[in-house]
Amino acid sequence: MGANKGGTTGPSSLMDVGLFVLTGDIEDGGVSMAKPTFYITTPIYYPSDRLHIGHAYTTVATDTLCRWKRLDGYDVFFLTGTDEHGQKMQRRAEKAGKSPQEFVDSIVVTIRDLWDVLKIQYDDFIRTTEDRHVARVKQIFEKIYKKGDIYKAEYEGWYCADCEAYFTETQHKDLDGRCPDHDRPLERLREESYFFKLSKYSQRLLEHIDKNPDFIQPESRRNEMVSFIKSGLDDLCVSRTTFSWGVPVDFDPKHVVYVWFDALTNYITALGYPDGDLYKKYWPADVHLMGKEIVRFHSIIWPIILMALDEPLPKKVYGHGWLILESGKMSKTKGNVVDPVHLVAKYGLDAVRYFLLREIPFGSDGVYSEEALVARINADLANDLGNLLNRTLTVFERSSGGLVPAPGRLGTQDEALKRQALALAGEVRGLVDRLEISNAVAATFKVVSAANKYIDEQAPWSLAKQGKTERLGTVLYVLAEVLRILATILQPFLIEGAGKMWSQLGLGDSIPGSAWADLDRWGVVRPGTQVKKGRPLFPRIDTKEALDGTPQAPAKVAATPVSPVAEEAPQVEEPTDISIEAFQQVDLRTAKIVAAEQVKGTQKLLRLVVDIGSEQREIVSGIADYYTPESLVGKTIIVIVNLKPAKIRGVESRGMLLAATRDERLVLLTSDNDIPPGSKIS
Ligand code: MSP
Repeated sequence: MGANKGGTTGPSSLMDVGLFVLTGDIEDGGVSMAKPTFYITTPIYYPSDRLHIGHAYTTVATDTLCRWKRLDGYDVFFLTGTDEHGQKMQRRAEKAGKSPQEFVDSIVVTIRDLWDVLKIQYDDFIRTTEDRHVARVKQIFEKIYKKGDIYKAEYEGWYCADCEAYFTETQHKDLDGRCPDHDRPLERLREESYFFKLSKYSQRLLEHIDKNPDFIQPESRRNEMVSFIKSGLDDLCVSRTTFSWGVPVDFDPKHVVYVWFDALTNYITALGYPDGDLYKKYWPADVHLMGKEIVRFHSIIWPIILMALDEPLPKKVYGHGWLILESGKMSKTKGNVVDPVHLVAKYGLDAVRYFLLREIPFGSDGVYSEEALVARINADLANDLGNLLNRTLTVFERSSGGLVPAPGRLGTQDEALKRQALALAGEVRGLVDRLEISNAVAATFKVVSAANKYIDEQAPWSLAKQGKTERLGTVLYVLAEVLRILATILQPFLIEGAGKMWSQLGLGDSIPGSAWADLDRWGVVRPGTQVKKGRPLFPRIDTKEALDGTPQAPAKVAATPVSPVAEEAPQVEEPTDISIEAFQQVDLRTAKIVAAEQVKGTQKLLRLVVDIGSEQREIVSGIADYYTPESLVGKTIIVIVNLKPAKIRGVESRGMLLAATRDERLVLLTSDNDIPPGSKIS
């Protein structure tokens, strides 16, 4: 809302958020200043399969941090990409009957599409098969070889092709010869290989970790890594001769570079190491973000590669927890992977992103379930935030003609809410900087709850009724300001909803960049602004329908609301009598079931094709617990044919079956077969 007050952008307002050092780039009336840089990366993903919700978790978190940092005045560089070499990929390609390049190309397309669906704003997407990467990997390998930190030797050991890693003799014995992660026998391999002198650098690495407590986070992972390094580092085998799908070692071409050595360097090859402008500008990385299982590679091998190159180390390696399912870790072989594209289509982008950010304390493991997702959407987005906006705007419309009134003097409770809202940006900034993403979202929603409590206590609808116009004006103004602050802060967390809030508040079609600088200012919304109440931001989801495809009995709403704001307090109502005309609006017909089958991927849903005389149509119904598809074909049932169509699991369901239920039983209402399909029931 800086625009309302005229020109609060630029250095003065940016200085207000306490970020800037006068030095470099931005021109402003002769003073120029550099934005601080922020370079963050995701792991580069294996394009061996379509990615699942676990991969989306890392990327959504990274994207959220970037959005926050951009708004907060940083010059952000966000790198993601794909890790395409290695034996595993070569084998996958062979299985698919494709060349490795064709195979990875086909999967990379789906990964980029996924990031588009999730609206990920990455600055670069590096593929390890690109020339720009391959050339620099060769250069890096050769440089370290020439320095003497890579040397050639013979190696024999127990190898897992899926891990692309060797196991020691002791591990082999302890594990009964099988890889614990991939449940496959370890293979005995003997190779002439190049080795990288990890051992030479282990003391230096320990000192670095000790001096830089933020280098490996969270704390628990740091401790794990320290003990791992202290237990002694062996030199690492960094070349392979048993397959060819990798970066060749130029000076000894039967070797290809070990895929992890190749992959880790992506963080600098993408920036044009050693002399690219981006490299000079953004390196060292501020955060390498990843799942906890690959922290070891990033906090041991990667820093040692950089030490060998005499380059600075990343500032932080952060290992977040896993999203696990009740049935265990997500894996293609278990067939329990959750497809983020499907979830976005069903629940919307904001809801899925919000859930990922909020549900699991960042850094810990968390169980994913669709039930939890729906519960989160309903509790936080529909009930708390959506309802706050909706009921506030309803009061505006009913009591001030939709115009933001001028406030009177603020009382104690007004001041308390104002203080809380004005302190929010600082609080969230601190949490985001510590990567406490879930806590940052929770802190924001605390203000949402406080505002809901405020509206309950102040009961503006009563103030309107009692003609207390000045007090009503103050309460409405406080709410408008708090909602402005919330919409602004929520931009990185609700990438679509925040803008919608802004426009419903009548503040403009999209949130201007200047709004950020107004986060710690009060009195920004101009009295006289016309609010524009629109559709609810986050409609409540019918849990039963979403999860089993059967709608819940609709909640009954009071005929006489207790307050002038109907949304304010839904009340339970006695069953009401309806008129014969109302009943006649329901078009009931006999219908003959001509085909029936289970809806794929569901347990309870059947897709029926029914003949209703004039046409055949599809109906999806949650009756698979009571009827097998075969037993239904040929039955004549009763169907409501003028029910609004609904898309359920990709099928357009047009109509509803009538059934009687009692206790745990369900029986379809049927008719004699001598009544032709389509006969009207009255
Ligand atoms: N290619 C390597 C990384 C090389 S980085 C130089 C790799 N790729 S991966 O495709 O397997 O992706 C692993 C990353 O995906 C994890 O580190 C994590 O960020 C994310 N996740 C994959 N499954 C996950 C969960 N179930 N839960 C949370 N994150 C998960 O490893």
